[in-house]
Amino acid sequence: MSEQHAKEQQEATFRSLTEMVQLARKHLERGDWDYLVGAADTEASLRRNRAAVESWVFKPRILNDVSAVSVESELLGSAMRIPVVLPPIGSVQAFEAGGGISVARAAKDFGILQILSSSCSPDYEAVAQGVPGPRIYQLYLMGDRSWMDDHIGRALDAGYTGFCLTADTQVYSRRERDVMKSYVPMSGRSASAADGDFSHQASMTWDTIAHIKDTHDIPLIVKGVMHEDDATRCVEAGVDVIYVSNHGGRQLDHAMACIDALPQVSQAVAGRVPVVVDGGFMRGADVVKGLCLGADFVGMGRFEGLAMAAGGYAGLMRGLKILEQEIRISMALLGAPDLASLNPSLLQRAQPVAEPSVLSAFPLIDDY
Ligand SMILES: Cc1cc2nc3c(=O)[nH]c(=O)nc-3n(C[C@H](O)[C@H](O)[C@H](O)COP(=O)(O)O)c2cc1C
Repeated sequence: MSEQHAKEQQEATFRSLTEMVQLARKHLERGDWDYLVGAADTEASLRRNRAAVESWVFKPRILNDVSAVSVESELLGSAMRIPVVLPPIGSVQAFEAGGGISVARAAKDFGILQILSSSCSPDYEAVAQGVPGPRIYQLYLMGDRSWMDDHIGRALDAGYTGFCLTADTQVYSRRERDVMKSYVPMSGRSASAADGDFSHQASMTWDTIAHIKDTHDIPLIVKGVMHEDDATRCVEAGVDVIYVSNHGGRQLDHAMACIDALPQVSQAVAGRVPVVVDGGFMRGADVVKGLCLGADFVGMGRFEGLAMAAGGYAGLMRGLKILEQEIRISMALLGAPDLASLNPSLLQRAQPVAEPSVLSAFPLIDDY
């Protein structure tokens, strides 16, 4: 890390999210940058996520008192300062050396929940020891059922308040930016042979869900739900949080956009459990769109990685504070004083004004 990079990490004085992304791009080497912004095969799912978010426009209401906009809520017993979760990011230590622990500190100090990936470092027990507090653990199944039970039990012992299964990654995709450079994500580089067996993840079924619900007393989040029938089945199986995601376009290529899957999933869930959505949400206004279309929380994966690359703990804190301002301003200008006032009537579809891409939420990035 250069002296300049270290200084920027301590201070994180960027004034806008565009500056945050500029700093991230400056700090990361090409391989790590491409790992963060890239996606599977043609990257169509990634662009479609952005295209769909950009294809919703606001139809604001006027003359509502918005002198106090309230954005706080609660998820799995934890107070949430904004309706945003920090999704699991494998190899997050590639973006800033503190990795999962820097994210944990920022999540705790800011006041939102982190979902920690099993493929990043430090590991979940070290993170819990370093930063005690409510947190969700996302585990890729790299062993048999007793291996899984052991890890869930240990996560509970370590104080995790939720357990997340990622169901869109039964096999690992081909991410061409990484493939063409023979880039191996940092956690993959240090994985032992015992850690690297994806066959258990591939053979995961509804039976796995039933087993977890029968065996462990921990709220279960299923991440990667895109079909309303799967959402219904999850709720019937006792899943506690439905997480709509196509993995930021990093898994199935040519998947539908998450914000397009959201309304039907939300209708199927019918308020029985909270719904989270991610995929292409980069700005406060994007978050508000997700909430209008039925999500209770929005996950922001690349945002988290970019903020970490911009300034580690301080970068994520600063990024989240700017995001909070953007959410509050969008809601006020939309005439929505609280989360309950957000609904689909505040949106309609329109042609996007920019060519959708992973960074199209930052059109000024090369101008300043
Ligand atoms: C660098 C990177 C690593 C990721 N690693 C994981 C992971 O370990 N587990 C997981 O469930 N999802 C992982 N994801 C997917 C995110 O949790 C999230 O679903 C996705 O980033 C959302 O899309 P967005 O980046 O457009 O916000 C990763 C995403 C990125 C960008």
